[in-house]
Amino acid sequence: MKQNPLSEKARRTGPPPISWLMSARLDNPDLISLAVGFVDQDTLPCDDTLACCRTILEDTPRGRAALQYGSTSGLPALRESILDRLTVEAGLAPDRQGLTPDHVVVTTGSQSLLYLITEVLVDPGDVVLIGDPSYFVYMGILGSVGAEVRGVPVDENGMRIDALEDAIGWLRDEGKLGRLKLIYVVSYFQNPSGLSLSPERRRELVRLVRDIRAESPVFVLEDGAYRELRYAGPADPPVKAYDSENDLVAYAGTFCKSFSAGLKTGYGLLPDRLIEPVLNEKGNLNFGSPNFNQCILDEAIRSGLYARHVETVRAGYESKLRLACDALGEHMPEEADWIEPQGGLYIWMTLPSSIDTGPAGELFRRATDHGVLYVPGEFCFYPEPGREKPKNCLRLSFGVESPDTVREGIRRLGRAVAETLT
Ligand SMILES: Cc1ncc(COP(=O)(O)O)c(C=O)c1O
Repeated sequence: MKQNPLSEKARRTGPPPISWLMSARLDNPDLISLAVGFVDQDTLPCDDTLACCRTILEDTPRGRAALQYGSTSGLPALRESILDRLTVEAGLAPDRQGLTPDHVVVTTGSQSLLYLITEVLVDPGDVVLIGDPSYFVYMGILGSVGAEVRGVPVDENGMRIDALEDAIGWLRDEGKLGRLKLIYVVSYFQNPSGLSLSPERRRELVRLVRDIRAESPVFVLEDGAYRELRYAGPADPPVKAYDSENDLVAYAGTFCKSFSAGLKTGYGLLPDRLIEPVLNEKGNLNFGSPNFNQCILDEAIRSGLYARHVETVRAGYESKLRLACDALGEHMPEEADWIEPQGGLYIWMTLPSSIDTGPAGELFRRATDHGVLYVPGEFCFYPEPGREKPKNCLRLSFGVESPDTVREGIRRLGRAVAETLT
């Protein structure tokens, strides 16, 4: 019998969208990758991590506890520190919002929190609204759970609330508002646009969700992956800070961007209603994320090494962002357009509509010939049936390459764009 042995979910699950871009770089180390969103190799904290490991392991009982399994929800001390940091730095008000460390769940990177939340809320056919453009790895999760996904346009102030209201109105008209489960926003220095949701829109988003709660079981999934990579502008409170009753917003954070991606540790700050289902699901998945990594992060935070390190990485990325924007100014033709972000790892560029930035297009071929890779913008728009995706955008990352190679990569890309335009 030639039956397909795979589950329906496995059949809905495709390969990671840009894994071929990663392997292109591995196959040809001379290529400059302005595509991968990896963090800066040169600032990864070897000395700090070694110091934390020593402190933990030289104290044998503490070391043994660290090398033992932890709990599903994560190391209590780290969960306390996470809430403290979000209170001091991001303006959360635990007393007023009813938040305690029990609302914090430590996960294996914030990606797995996004996965867990989506798993516990979304059945096939449920609706999820996301930014247009949006973080493409999250789109993979949405495809795999069988969500009906609709894009909401993003402008220089983040997701447009008027467009969100329209999308909600259309769902109401179609009788689908009751199936709206999630509104996903990357609130700080969005991947891929580099832009943040303005404070007014953060407040309006919560107001809007509260207004439709009687008709829809929707939650906001706020992805704050880049919150700590801020190089300019004020430290706006997250959408979560406006969730006065802790019942509307699940916040996802991570230490991967600010400290070490290799420790792959993130967290969620969850509404009461979601804690138990998320922990149940996580119990099945791994009954706890790596305990030793959590102990390292806890030690780094308590000793002050973490805060110092965040300052160092911010300064490094800020100078790379400035040089990347200067190089774009120097090497891109007039017709190219971008907004300089105030943080994060990405610059989003829009080219004339005659240029197709896709992997089969002329620009991508020319860029690869000149030895530079970017992420074609079409990967950042969900493939909604019947909708033409914008073809003339691209995402550049200045995170992983050195200052010299970022500059050289942009020079090569400028040549490819100029040649494609002629
Ligand atoms: C917007 C966004 N959210 C979440 C993640 C997941 O990060 P991690 O699982 O490494 O914490 C990433 C990674 O690049 C991201 O860009």
